[in-house]
Amino acid sequence: MSKEIEDHRLLNASHNETFSSIIDKHLSRRRVLQGGLGMAAASMLGGFGLAGLSGAANADSGKSTGTPAKTPLALAFESIKGSRTDAFVVPAGYTAHVLAPWGTPLNDKAPQWSESLAMTPEAQLNSIGMHHDGMHNFALSEGTASSNFLLVMNNEYIDQDALWAPKGGATNAESGKRPADEVRTEINAHGVTVVEVKKDAGGKWDVVSNSGYNRRYTSASEMVLSGPVAGSDYVKTAFSPDGTRTRGTNNNCANGYTPWGTYLTCEENWPGYFVKRSDRQSDDDRIGIETERGRYGWETAAGDASEVDGEFARFDNTPTADSADKDYRNEPRTFGYIVEIDPYTGEKAVKRTALGRFRHEGCWPGKLVEGEPVVFYSGHDSRNEYIYKFVSDARWEAADAHVPGADKNRLTIGDKYLDKGTLYVAQFSADGTGKWLKLTPDAVTRDGRTLAAALGLAADDLAGVIIHTADAADLMGATPMDRPEWGAVDPASGEVYMTLTNNSKRTEEGTAAAFTNDGKAIEEPGVGYKTAPTNAANPRGGNEAGQIIRWREAGDHTAFDWEIFVFGAAASDADNLSGLTEMNEFASPDGLYFDEREDEQGILWIQTDNGYAGVADATNDQLLAVVPAALQQAEGDAAVIGADNQAQLKRFAVGPNGCEVTGIFATPDRTALFVNIQHPGNWPQSVDATAETDGSVRPRAATVVIQREDGGQIGV
Ligand code: FEO
Ligand code: CA
Ligand code: CA
Repeated sequence: MSKEIEDHRLLNASHNETFSSIIDKHLSRRRVLQGGLGMAAASMLGGFGLAGLSGAANADSGKSTGTPAKTPLALAFESIKGSRTDAFVVPAGYTAHVLAPWGTPLNDKAPQWSESLAMTPEAQLNSIGMHHDGMHNFALSEGTASSNFLLVMNNEYIDQDALWAPKGGATNAESGKRPADEVRTEINAHGVTVVEVKKDAGGKWDVVSNSGYNRRYTSASEMVLSGPVAGSDYVKTAFSPDGTRTRGTNNNCANGYTPWGTYLTCEENWPGYFVKRSDRQSDDDRIGIETERGRYGWETAAGDASEVDGEFARFDNTPTADSADKDYRNEPRTFGYIVEIDPYTGEKAVKRTALGRFRHEGCWPGKLVEGEPVVFYSGHDSRNEYIYKFVSDARWEAADAHVPGADKNRLTIGDKYLDKGTLYVAQFSADGTGKWLKLTPDAVTRDGRTLAAALGLAADDLAGVIIHTADAADLMGATPMDRPEWGAVDPASGEVYMTLTNNSKRTEEGTAAAFTNDGKAIEEPGVGYKTAPTNAANPRGGNEAGQIIRWREAGDHTAFDWEIFVFGAAASDADNLSGLTEMNEFASPDGLYFDEREDEQGILWIQTDNGYAGVADATNDQLLAVVPAALQQAEGDAAVIGADNQAQLKRFAVGPNGCEVTGIFATPDRTALFVNIQHPGNWPQSVDATAETDGSVRPRAATVVIQREDGGQIGV
C-alpha cells in the first residue's frame, strides 16, 4: 500500500503500562545484551526468557543452546549500497528480470500492451491486474514445481494516472459522475490474477498466454460467503437476499495459502470504496466506511443507462428501501474477510468469515502438526489495531495435504478447516508473555460482561461478534499495535514473525489514549484508538521506522512468549536500537517471508514500504535478508538483532524510485526468488529489471524474478 491510499484516519486506544515501568520489569528478569546498546534498548530486545526463544527451540530438539550440531546457514552475498534510481538493483552475480507486468494479456481477448494502450473493461478483465502485492506459487506437478506453476497474485489497487495515461487521467477523478466504463475498467484492474508461468531452456521465465488456468478474480466477480456470517441478516442484500453471496474482493494486500493447496487473498483497505451517508451502524464507524465519496467515486456511476444489477449502486450503502434485502446497506458487511481461491479450478472464491472482519493485511498458516488444529495468523493494518489468530475446530489430517495435480475438492477441505473454529486477539504483556483472548459471544470482557451483551447482541450471535470484530477486540483488552503488516512462520520451530510497519499516532509513555469518532472510551461501540501511548511491544513514540516482533506459542493456544526481533531506523538515528548501519538501515518493514532451507534453518526476507525520510533519503524500498538461527549461533542466546550482530542483516535488493517492494516466494529448488514491485514511478523500460529507465515510461507494477548467473540457490 502506498502513502497515497494509506488510511490516515485512526480507527482504534487502551490502558497501557508506562514505558518506564516496562523497562523496569524487563531489567528485573532478563540479562542485558552485550554490545553497544543502552540499558533501555537492551530491555526491549530478547524478551523470551533467559534461554531466548531460538535457544528454547534448540532445547526442544535436544540440542544445547550455543553448541549447534548443524552447519550454520550463511548468506553468501555482500550487503549492497542503498540506491535511488529507476532500476532494480541486485548483488554481483545475480540477474533480475521483469515478469507479468500490469496489462500483460492473459489470452487473445486482450490486446498486446503498448505505451498508448487505451484500457477497456474487456481488455483489463483479460490481462494482468494493477499494483501487484502478495503472491504465491502453485505447482502443476511435483516434477515441474520449480519450472512451471500458477503464479497467483493480488492486484491491490490502481494508479489512475498510469491507467488513464493516454487520455491524460481519469474523468471526474475528484468530483462529479465517473463514466461507467472507466469504473468497470478500474474494478477489473483490482482483485487477483491467476497466470501460468514457465521457465524456458535458457532459464528465462514468461507467462503462458492462453493457458486454461489464466483468469481474473476482480472487484466484480461473484463470490460465496461461508462460515458464521453467511446467511445471517447482517449480509442480506438486494443481490443476495439470503445473504450467501456477494460481488468482488478488494484491496487485496498480502496473501496466504493453505496446506491443502488453495490461495488466501486478504481484504485490507476496502472500507474506502464504500459510502454511507446516513443510518450508519457502529461497525461502519469503527472500520471507517466513507461518508461522502468512495476512493475512486465508483458509486457515482450508479444510474448509468448501462448499469446491470446495481453494479455501481452497491458502493453507496445509504439505505434506500424499506428492508435490507432490497438495497445495499449491508454490502460493506460482505467485505473485510480472508478469501479462499482454488487456483486450479476457477470455482467461485469463498469468503471465510470465521477468520474475522477487519482490514486484513494477510493470513499465514502456523506450524502444521498432524492431529492438531490448523492455525492462521492475521494482522489488522491500521494504526493502533490488533493481531489476530484463528484456530480450527477440525484437527489436521495428512490426507488433506496438497498434492499438485491430484483431483481433490480443495474448497470442501477449506470448509472443514476454515468455517468452524475460534478467533483470538493478542494481548502483549510487559514481561515478555502474552495472551490470546477469545472472541466468542460468551467471552467475558474486561468489565465483566459477556462479549455478546457488551456488543448489544443476542447471547449466541457469533456472526454479530465477527461483524464487530474490532469493537469485540477493544472490549477484551487487546494491545494496540504499530500497524501489523506481514507475518512469517518458521515451519520448524513454529516461531511467528510479524512486521509492525510504523505508527505516527503512537504517543509517548504516560500520555492518555485518545479515541476515534469523538469517543470517550475504547469500550464504546464504533470507537477505536485514535492515539495510544507506548507499550512494551510498541515502545517508541511517534514510531516512523517500525519493528519486527516475534512470538512463540506457549501451550493450549491461549498464551505465548514474545520479543522484538529488530527495530527499523536510520543509521544516524538516536533510537537506532538494533545498531543498523548505512548498509542495512531500513524503515517500515512490510513484506516478510520465512524461506525454509535445509536442517530446519531458513532465511527471513524483509521487504519495505517506507515513507520515513531518514531512510528514504538514502535508499529506495528494499529487500533484506537475515538467518535468524545464525544470530542465535553466533551470539549464544542473543537471538535478536543488536549492535554486535547486525552485520548479519544484509541488504539484498533495492527497488526503483517510487515503488514499494512487496510479495515474495522462492521456487521449491530455491534457484529463483520472485518479488513484486508496486507503484514504481518510472519503470520498467525493458525485460531487464536492472536497466535504468532512460527518459520516461508509463509505469507498470511487475513481478521481478531474481536468479543467480550460475544457476545456484538464492542467497547462500
Ligand atoms: Fe497494503 Fe498494509 O499494506
Ligand atoms: Ca470500541
Ligand atoms: Ca503491505
